Amino acid sequence: MTQQMIDQAKSVMRKNDRGSYTVPTHGLYPFQWNWDSALCALGFAHFDEPRAWTEIETLFAHQWEDGMVPHIIFHQMDDGYFPGPDVWATGRTVPTSGITQPPVAGFAARRIFDRARDKALAASKARALLPRIHAWHQWFFANRDPKGTGLVAIIHPWESGRDNSVDWDAAFERVPTEGVQPFTRRDTSHANPAHRPTDEQYKRYIWLVQKFRSLGWDNAQLHDASPFQIVDPGFNAILIRSCVDLADLAETLGESEIATQSRAMANKAIAAMESLWSNQHGQYLCYDRAIGALVDSASIGGILAAFAPIPGARAKAISDRIEVLAKSCNYLVPSHDPTAPEFDALRYWRGPIWLIVNYMIADGLERAGRTVMADRINRDCLRLIEQSGFAEYYGAINAEACGGDAFTWTAAMVIEILSAQEIAA
Ligand code: GLC
Repeated sequence: MTQQMIDQAKSVMRKNDRGSYTVPTHGLYPFQWNWDSALCALGFAHFDEPRAWTEIETLFAHQWEDGMVPHIIFHQMDDGYFPGPDVWATGRTVPTSGITQPPVAGFAARRIFDRARDKALAASKARALLPRIHAWHQWFFANRDPKGTGLVAIIHPWESGRDNSVDWDAAFERVPTEGVQPFTRRDTSHANPAHRPTDEQYKRYIWLVQKFRSLGWDNAQLHDASPFQIVDPGFNAILIRSCVDLADLAETLGESEIATQSRAMANKAIAAMESLWSNQHGQYLCYDRAIGALVDSASIGGILAAFAPIPGARAKAISDRIEVLAKSCNYLVPSHDPTAPEFDALRYWRGPIWLIVNYMIADGLERAGRTVMADRINRDCLRLIEQSGFAEYYGAINAEACGGDAFTWTAAMVIEILSAQEIAA
């Protein structure tokens, strides 16, 4: 059973492999996506280590000169996706989008390095990637935390990776739609429109892209110019964890300056995370920097915060919070509280489950000694696969397969989870 599932997962990954990068899934997402790639490298590492390193290298080959790593790299033209390179107009030789995504590559590089069978290959690959990943982390604090609070803001919902979470609704109201050029969406021809964002949301996504484009994609200006500035605890937790992991990796490789700088960024951010804690909700919340207030939306972003080395009491409270969520769904962890009025069982990031998010939450809880909950989340991942195959995401009540199918990072997470179990056994 286990081997059969691993074999199926491998064949999904092979199917979406384009040689030096993978697409998230055929059709719906025909390019390279940033955090998809970093997470899928974890899957490759179990059966093809060189290919795992190549995935991350290809991503960083398209890093901008200022350190930013874009959220999409348009390696080959494909008009099945909107917005394409002409809308972004970032002026790169190989076109890319102009915003970023959760910086999970630092975590992935360290994990692949630690487990490597080919130690020499791992050392040379990690050594070359180290300064690039570090430059990306530094870019975040320089450009997305101009006042030096310790936490970074996203300036477009797509940066969060949780594209149309309830967390953005109130702030998104302040994003205008006037002047948005007419467009035709492509996503709704590949996936059920009822599972996707609404047209109104899409206009706002595009308004922000047009705004940033009008500023020449100058990152020194974009943060302050954006009406949308949200400090997402999940996003910051990923950045913190990657800084910590990069610091450890740098120490191992004798790069003490990178190690010291990475650890300093992480420590400052961990302390600042406390400002996002809500006793009332028993989890972290987003902070709307444009208006200076916490966002009253208890979504999975504040639970994903467990991926960072948060204080033990916070990790326990998050585990308790998940226990409460479990009472209103059959599978963990829903992307929004099923008892909240905005919960939407099958719509993108407003209720359903993503295996990658589950994996990061479970990993963090395990590190914090919350192994019972971590195991339960991992078991639910496998139950979902058994029920509904390698989907993009799943209903938390009935395990419906949603979005695209034959999805790369879902497959990679299955290989990760099953292989880790084997290693532990
Ligand atoms: C969607 C997700 C995003 C992901 C992308 C490709 O846009 O919201 O997180 O990176 O699909 O899988």
